[in-house]
Amino acid sequence: MTAGLADPHTKMAHVRAADARAIGDAAVAIRAGLLVAFPTETVYGLGANALDGKAVAAIFAAKRRPRFNPLIIHVADTVEARRHGVFSEDAEKLAKEFWPGPLTLVAPKRPQSEVADLATAGLDTIALRVPAGEVARELLQRAGVPIAAPSANLSGHVSATTAAHVASDLGDAVEMVLDGGPTRHGLESTIVRVVEGEPPQLLRAGAIERDAIEIVLGRSLTAPTDGEVTAPGQLGSHYAPRTELRLDATDLRPEEVMLAFGAPPPGIEPALNLSATGDLVEAAANLFSHLRRLDEMEVRRAAVMPIPKTGLGEAINDRLTRAAAPRRRGKGKTR
Ligand code: TXA
Ligand code: MG
Repeated sequence: MTAGLADPHTKMAHVRAADARAIGDAAVAIRAGLLVAFPTETVYGLGANALDGKAVAAIFAAKRRPRFNPLIIHVADTVEARRHGVFSEDAEKLAKEFWPGPLTLVAPKRPQSEVADLATAGLDTIALRVPAGEVARELLQRAGVPIAAPSANLSGHVSATTAAHVASDLGDAVEMVLDGGPTRHGLESTIVRVVEGEPPQLLRAGAIERDAIEIVLGRSLTAPTDGEVTAPGQLGSHYAPRTELRLDATDLRPEEVMLAFGAPPPGIEPALNLSATGDLVEAAANLFSHLRRLDEMEVRRAAVMPIPKTGLGEAINDRLTRAAAPRRRGKGKTR
């Protein structure tokens, strides 16, 4: 739709050279809840307004991610990062040394942070990064909101380091691709978990080498279990609501409330509806917050209506199945 400097090879009219005007338009698109792919100094990111759960859900749909892995939240500076994450002494040291730059810090998420639960996959930690790439920095400044952005590739593909890669992977799923040329590092950011009282942990090796980080911290990083990050979204236990869940439910039994999807069965008033219109994007956006709300209601069990297994429904069902799985630890009578 957008007229721009399209590369004929990509057949994508919405690839635009990342000049001031295109970045301004991209910022408007982000604020409107649309997806924008943009270059960072590491790889291209597929960005959405991190405060907008529906926009974040669209990221997972565009990437065809089968699971809701938590996303990296890109912010303009350290001051903004501290509004969303609790910074330990180690976090402060690393931010001072490496930001802006290809380092992602995983820190406890502040309860006041308005970053959508889906962006952090319902975890109590948040991955934050202040990118160094000029286009990314300008986009963040102009958008004025934190931008959730995984690498701009289809799930299972390698990260995209040029706008053409992004366009061929994501096609029309993205409103605009800002073309800033090939990325400088071509390798994703290094991810370090920094939580007060825990030894700092290298979750993913990346563009900043371990040694450089250890020198700044004055201690060694605990090793990642295997080269790649243990994506918490893939651990069955990472977010389990206290409320028991009964899946694919079409009726309501004693001591249950209904978590609906689409029109509820006749005569049943659902406690919550993931999407009254049966929209999977909306359901994904609501999923983690609705599970939390069920906990707040202190109900014994929720009957969850069937959700189609197609598209984003695969990820929604994956998360619900994990959330419904028997707990490994005690039930926890108190909150
Ligand atoms: O260089 C990069 O980091 C690029 C650019 C676009 O910034 N982004 C990127 O995002 O590589 P993605 O989604 O492809 O990888 C993010 C990784 C995932 O493996 C995810 O599991 C991990 O970060 N992650 C996010 N939040 C986390 C958290 N709270 N705890 C542990 N790991 C987390
Ligand atoms: Mg990736």
